[in-house]
Amino acid sequence: MVGPTSGLPGSFAMERGETPEEERQSGRHVLPTSLESHSLKKSNWGFLFTGIIGGALVTVYAVATPFITPALRKVCLPFVPATSKQIENVVKMLQHRRGSLVDIGSGDGRIVIAAAKEGFPAVGYELNPWLVWYSRYRAWREGVHGSAKFYISDLWKVTFAQYSNVVVFGVPQMMLQLERKLELELEDGARVIACRFPFPHWTPDHTAGEGIDTVWAYDLNSFRGRKKRS
Ligand SMILES: C[S@@+](CC[C@H](N)C(=O)[O-])C[C@H]1O[C@@H](n2cnc3c(N)ncnc32)[C@H](O)[C@@H]1O
Repeated sequence: MVGPTSGLPGSFAMERGETPEEERQSGRHVLPTSLESHSLKKSNWGFLFTGIIGGALVTVYAVATPFITPALRKVCLPFVPATSKQIENVVKMLQHRRGSLVDIGSGDGRIVIAAAKEGFPAVGYELNPWLVWYSRYRAWREGVHGSAKFYISDLWKVTFAQYSNVVVFGVPQMMLQLERKLELELEDGARVIACRFPFPHWTPDHTAGEGIDTVWAYDLNSFRGRKKRS
């Protein structure tokens, strides 16, 4: 309980049986209770404010870093989602196709989800964990989580040998290296679909769309046949 004299100068000294003069001489200065709780409240606000600012900075850093780091890699492949026309064109190229599908650098999962809706067991490999978690959520929300799977992986460390349909929306700087990788890994019956940027040496078997929505389909069978003949 706080006494009636609380907050008045000398009241603590008196409560302890000391005169204010004795307290001053002993060097024991005690803050009045109201002042003490006021400064405590102030320091609590200080802690809360620092915590909120610190938390916000950590969150911004954690969310932004995976989107910025692709720009710092040897091959800069940023997140640019496929347009709906581009997706339509990819789906066109999948008509009469069967087997599994992979999207290399799957972004927010839109190609994989569209393919899963067409009945393909579809997989996406993506470096950015936020995009992978978001893709999983989207697949679940759209009811295709059973056939649309997403993995946090570097595309250069994954083998695509097991896939019959490969989709990539890359950048020109990576297409030559990817062309070589896929040529070594894919089975004869596989089809590769490139969005927006074609492969530099392969000849496409089919093309759909125009401008930024263009997609090119390459059948490994015909590519290898042509190579043998020449
Ligand atoms: C142009 S976006 C295409 C996204 C998606 N395929 C689409 O069509 O909407 C390329 C994606 O590749 C991802 N990426 C970049 N480097 C990668 C790497 N080394 N391994 C896997 N994914 C990568 C990026 O984070 C980005 O989401």
